[in-house]
Amino acid sequence: MSNLRLDKLLADTGRWSRKEARELVKQGRVRVNGQPVRSPEEKYDPAGLSLTVDGTAVLYEAYTYLMLNKPAGLLSATQDRKQKTVLDLLPPELQKRGLFPVGRLDRDSTGLLLLTNHGELAHRLLSPRHHVDKVYLVQTEGEIDAADCAAFARGMTLGDGEVCLPAGLEPLENRPGWCLVTLREGKFHQVKRMLAARGKPVLSLERLSMGNLHLDKALDAGEYRALTPNEVENLLQSAGLGTKKSQS
Ligand code: URA
Repeated sequence: MSNLRLDKLLADTGRWSRKEARELVKQGRVRVNGQPVRSPEEKYDPAGLSLTVDGTAVLYEAYTYLMLNKPAGLLSATQDRKQKTVLDLLPPELQKRGLFPVGRLDRDSTGLLLLTNHGELAHRLLSPRHHVDKVYLVQTEGEIDAADCAAFARGMTLGDGEVCLPAGLEPLENRPGWCLVTLREGKFHQVKRMLAARGKPVLSLERLSMGNLHLDKALDAGEYRALTPNEVENLLQSAGLGTKKSQS
Protein backbone atom coordinates (compact mmCIF):
# COMPACT_ATOMS: atom_id res chain seq x y z
CA MET A 1 0.00 0.00 0.00
CA SER A 2 1.29 3.50 -0.75
CA ASN A 3 2.24 5.96 1.97
CA LEU A 4 -0.60 8.00 3.44
CA ARG A 5 -0.72 11.29 5.33
CA LEU A 6 -1.02 10.91 9.10
CA ASP A 7 -4.28 12.90 9.29
CA LYS A 8 -5.78 10.64 6.61
CA LEU A 9 -4.62 7.50 8.41
CA LEU A 10 -6.38 8.69 11.56
CA ALA A 11 -9.52 9.89 9.77
CA ASP A 12 -9.78 6.59 7.88
CA THR A 13 -10.54 4.85 11.18
CA GLY A 14 -13.90 6.69 11.18
CA ARG A 15 -13.29 8.07 14.69
CA TRP A 16 -12.20 11.55 13.77
CA SER A 17 -12.81 13.92 10.91
CA ARG A 18 -9.75 14.99 8.94
CA LYS A 19 -9.86 18.33 10.77
CA GLU A 20 -10.05 16.68 14.20
CA ALA A 21 -7.19 14.36 13.23
CA ARG A 22 -5.02 17.35 12.27
CA GLU A 23 -5.75 18.96 15.66
CA LEU A 24 -4.87 15.76 17.56
CA VAL A 25 -1.52 15.60 15.79
CA LYS A 26 -0.76 19.30 16.34
CA GLN A 27 -1.61 18.93 20.05
CA GLY A 28 1.12 16.25 20.30
CA ARG A 29 -1.34 13.50 21.25
CA VAL A 30 -0.32 11.16 18.45
CA ARG A 31 2.71 8.87 18.39
CA VAL A 32 3.94 6.94 15.39
CA ASN A 33 6.13 3.92 16.10
CA GLY A 34 6.56 5.25 19.64
CA GLN A 35 7.68 8.73 18.60
CA PRO A 36 5.55 11.87 19.03
CA VAL A 37 4.75 13.49 15.67
CA ARG A 38 3.36 16.98 15.18
CA SER A 39 3.04 17.21 11.40
CA PRO A 40 -0.28 15.90 10.06
CA GLU A 41 1.09 15.95 6.51
CA GLU A 42 3.86 13.46 7.33
CA LYS A 43 3.37 10.28 5.23
CA TYR A 44 3.65 6.67 6.41
CA ASP A 45 3.23 3.19 5.04
CA PRO A 46 0.21 1.79 6.94
CA ALA A 47 1.62 -1.77 6.85
CA GLY A 48 2.90 -2.65 10.32
CA LEU A 49 2.52 0.94 11.55
CA SER A 50 2.11 1.45 15.30
CA LEU A 51 -0.19 4.40 15.95
CA THR A 52 -1.36 5.70 19.34
CA VAL A 53 -3.61 8.58 20.40
CA ASP A 54 -3.29 9.64 24.05
CA GLY A 55 -1.37 6.40 24.61
CA THR A 56 -4.14 4.16 23.26
CA ALA A 57 -3.39 2.00 20.24
CA VAL A 58 -5.37 2.89 17.13
CA LEU A 59 -6.05 0.27 14.51
CA TYR A 60 -5.54 1.48 10.96
CA GLU A 61 -7.92 -0.33 8.64
CA ALA A 62 -7.91 -0.07 4.89
CA TYR A 63 -11.67 -0.32 5.35
CA THR A 64 -14.12 1.71 7.42
CA TYR A 65 -16.76 0.09 9.62
CA LEU A 66 -19.51 2.14 11.27
CA MET A 67 -22.47 1.11 13.38
CA LEU A 68 -25.53 3.30 12.87
CA ASN A 69 -28.73 3.29 14.89
CA LYS A 70 -31.01 3.82 11.90
CA PRO A 71 -33.97 6.09 12.58
CA ALA A 72 -37.32 5.56 10.86
CA GLY A 73 -37.89 7.63 7.72
CA LEU A 74 -34.56 7.16 5.91
CA LEU A 75 -33.74 4.84 3.03
CA SER A 76 -31.05 2.17 3.46
CA ALA A 77 -29.32 3.22 0.27
CA THR A 78 -26.29 5.24 -0.72
CA GLN A 79 -28.23 7.81 -2.71
CA ASP A 80 -31.70 8.61 -3.91
CA ARG A 81 -32.93 11.40 -6.12
CA LYS A 82 -35.93 12.20 -3.96
CA GLN A 83 -35.53 10.85 -0.46
CA LYS A 84 -32.93 11.13 2.26
CA THR A 85 -30.73 8.10 2.81
CA VAL A 86 -28.75 6.88 5.82
CA LEU A 87 -25.59 8.27 4.18
CA ASP A 88 -27.04 11.77 4.68
CA LEU A 89 -26.42 11.30 8.42
CA LEU A 90 -22.64 11.19 7.88
CA PRO A 91 -20.24 14.14 7.55
CA PRO A 92 -18.74 14.82 4.08
CA GLU A 93 -15.40 13.12 4.80
CA LEU A 94 -17.19 9.85 5.62
CA GLN A 95 -19.58 10.24 2.69
CA LYS A 96 -16.59 10.21 0.33
CA ARG A 97 -15.42 6.80 1.49
CA GLY A 98 -17.67 4.59 -0.60
CA LEU A 99 -19.61 3.28 2.40
CA PHE A 100 -22.80 1.33 1.87
CA PRO A 101 -25.34 -0.28 4.23
CA VAL A 102 -24.98 -4.01 4.81
CA GLY A 103 -28.43 -5.58 4.72
CA ARG A 104 -31.23 -3.17 4.11
CA LEU A 105 -33.71 -2.04 6.70
CA ASP A 106 -37.04 -0.77 5.36
CA ARG A 107 -37.72 2.96 5.50
CA ASP A 108 -39.90 2.53 8.60
CA SER A 109 -37.55 0.01 10.29
CA THR A 110 -34.98 1.06 12.86
CA GLY A 111 -31.88 -0.27 14.59
CA LEU A 112 -28.51 -1.74 13.76
CA LEU A 113 -27.14 -0.87 10.36
CA LEU A 114 -23.53 -1.64 9.52
CA LEU A 115 -21.99 0.81 7.07
CA THR A 116 -18.75 -0.26 5.43
CA ASN A 117 -16.76 -0.23 2.22
CA HIS A 118 -15.57 -3.83 2.76
CA GLY A 119 -17.42 -5.60 -0.04
CA GLU A 120 -16.32 -9.16 0.74
CA LEU A 121 -17.40 -8.83 4.38
CA ALA A 122 -20.81 -7.46 3.32
CA HIS A 123 -21.27 -10.31 0.88
CA ARG A 124 -20.46 -12.92 3.52
CA LEU A 125 -22.63 -11.36 6.23
CA LEU A 126 -25.62 -11.48 3.90
CA SER A 127 -25.06 -14.82 2.25
CA PRO A 128 -27.20 -17.63 3.80
CA ARG A 129 -24.19 -19.93 3.24
CA HIS A 130 -22.26 -18.22 6.03
CA HIS A 131 -25.04 -18.59 8.62
CA VAL A 132 -24.80 -15.11 10.12
CA ASP A 133 -27.92 -14.56 12.23
CA LYS A 134 -29.78 -11.25 12.19
CA VAL A 135 -32.04 -10.67 15.20
CA TYR A 136 -35.05 -8.33 15.11
CA LEU A 137 -37.28 -7.04 17.89
CA VAL A 138 -40.73 -6.98 16.39
CA GLN A 139 -44.14 -5.77 17.50
CA THR A 140 -47.05 -7.54 15.85
CA GLU A 141 -50.78 -7.12 15.61
CA GLY A 142 -52.02 -10.27 17.36
CA GLU A 143 -50.14 -12.61 19.66
CA ILE A 144 -47.55 -15.05 18.37
CA ASP A 145 -48.54 -18.65 19.14
CA ALA A 146 -46.87 -22.06 19.06
CA ALA A 147 -48.11 -22.74 15.51
CA ASP A 148 -46.40 -19.53 14.27
CA CYS A 149 -43.13 -20.57 15.94
CA ALA A 150 -43.36 -24.06 14.40
CA ALA A 151 -44.02 -22.61 10.93
CA PHE A 152 -40.95 -20.34 11.20
CA ALA A 153 -38.81 -23.25 12.46
CA ARG A 154 -39.87 -25.46 9.52
CA GLY A 155 -39.12 -22.78 6.93
CA MET A 156 -42.02 -21.07 5.22
CA THR A 157 -43.07 -20.78 1.60
CA LEU A 158 -44.60 -17.36 1.01
CA GLY A 159 -47.70 -16.68 -1.11
CA ASP A 160 -45.59 -15.83 -4.18
CA GLY A 161 -43.77 -19.19 -3.90
CA GLU A 162 -40.60 -17.74 -2.34
CA VAL A 163 -39.03 -20.28 0.01
CA CYS A 164 -37.58 -19.03 3.32
CA LEU A 165 -34.97 -20.90 5.34
CA PRO A 166 -35.93 -22.06 8.86
CA ALA A 167 -36.03 -19.02 11.17
CA GLY A 168 -36.38 -18.31 14.87
CA LEU A 169 -39.55 -16.84 16.37
CA GLU A 170 -39.78 -16.26 20.11
CA PRO A 171 -42.63 -14.35 21.79
CA LEU A 172 -41.41 -12.19 24.69
CA GLU A 173 -43.09 -13.44 27.85
CA ASN A 174 -43.42 -10.17 29.69
CA ARG A 175 -44.10 -8.00 26.62
CA PRO A 176 -47.36 -9.12 25.03
CA GLY A 177 -47.42 -8.40 21.28
CA TRP A 178 -43.62 -8.39 21.00
CA CYS A 179 -41.27 -11.10 19.74
CA LEU A 180 -37.74 -11.79 18.57
CA VAL A 181 -37.20 -12.98 15.01
CA THR A 182 -33.90 -14.55 13.93
CA LEU A 183 -33.09 -14.81 10.23
CA ARG A 184 -29.96 -16.02 8.48
CA GLU A 185 -30.88 -14.53 5.13
CA GLY A 186 -32.25 -11.19 4.01
CA LYS A 187 -35.04 -11.39 1.47
CA PHE A 188 -37.02 -8.29 0.59
CA HIS A 189 -39.38 -7.31 3.49
CA GLN A 190 -38.76 -10.82 4.82
CA VAL A 191 -39.87 -10.44 8.45
CA LYS A 192 -42.98 -8.50 7.44
CA ARG A 193 -43.89 -11.00 4.72
CA MET A 194 -43.36 -14.04 6.95
CA LEU A 195 -45.45 -12.61 9.77
CA ALA A 196 -48.13 -11.31 7.40
CA ALA A 197 -48.37 -14.86 6.01
CA ARG A 198 -49.19 -15.98 9.56
CA GLY A 199 -51.88 -13.28 9.89
CA LYS A 200 -49.74 -11.23 12.32
CA PRO A 201 -48.83 -7.98 10.56
CA VAL A 202 -45.75 -6.12 11.79
CA LEU A 203 -46.32 -2.85 13.64
CA SER A 204 -42.67 -2.03 14.32
CA LEU A 205 -39.32 -3.63 13.62
CA GLU A 206 -35.87 -2.93 15.06
CA ARG A 207 -32.70 -4.85 14.21
CA LEU A 208 -30.76 -5.70 17.39
CA SER A 209 -27.81 -7.68 16.08
CA MET A 210 -26.01 -9.12 13.10
CA GLY A 211 -23.75 -12.06 13.95
CA ASN A 212 -21.84 -11.05 17.05
CA LEU A 213 -22.32 -7.31 16.42
CA HIS A 214 -24.94 -5.84 18.77
CA LEU A 215 -26.60 -2.46 18.54
CA ASP A 216 -24.92 -0.14 21.05
CA LYS A 217 -27.72 1.05 23.36
CA ALA A 218 -25.80 4.27 23.97
CA LEU A 219 -26.50 5.32 20.36
CA ASP A 220 -29.67 7.36 19.97
CA ALA A 221 -31.63 7.02 16.74
CA GLY A 222 -29.60 8.69 13.99
CA GLU A 223 -26.27 8.38 15.84
CA TYR A 224 -23.32 6.29 14.66
CA ARG A 225 -19.87 5.30 15.83
CA ALA A 226 -16.84 3.44 14.48
CA LEU A 227 -16.68 -0.22 15.41
CA THR A 228 -14.05 -1.00 18.04
CA PRO A 229 -11.07 -3.12 16.93
CA ASN A 230 -12.58 -6.08 18.80
CA GLU A 231 -15.94 -5.66 17.10
CA VAL A 232 -14.22 -5.57 13.71
CA GLU A 233 -12.18 -8.66 14.49
CA ASN A 234 -15.20 -10.57 15.81
CA LEU A 235 -17.26 -9.65 12.78
CA LEU A 236 -14.48 -10.68 10.40
CA GLN A 237 -14.12 -13.96 12.31
CA SER A 238 -17.86 -14.66 12.15
CA ALA A 239 -17.73 -14.15 8.38
CA GLY A 240 -14.68 -16.39 8.02
CA LEU A 241 -12.34 -13.47 7.27
CA GLY A 242 -10.71 -13.14 10.68
CA THR A 243 -7.06 -12.37 11.12
CA LYS A 244 -5.36 -11.79 14.43
CA LYS A 245 -3.27 -9.13 12.69
CA SER A 246 -6.26 -6.77 12.60
CA GLN A 247 -6.42 -6.57 16.39
CA SER A 248 -4.90 -3.51 18.03
N1 URA B 1 -37.45 -7.64 7.32
C1 URA B 1 -38.37 -6.72 7.00
O1 URA B 1 -39.49 -7.03 6.66
N2 URA B 1 -38.00 -5.42 7.07
C2 URA B 1 -36.79 -5.00 7.45
O2 URA B 1 -36.53 -3.78 7.52
C3 URA B 1 -35.83 -5.98 7.80
C4 URA B 1 -36.19 -7.31 7.72
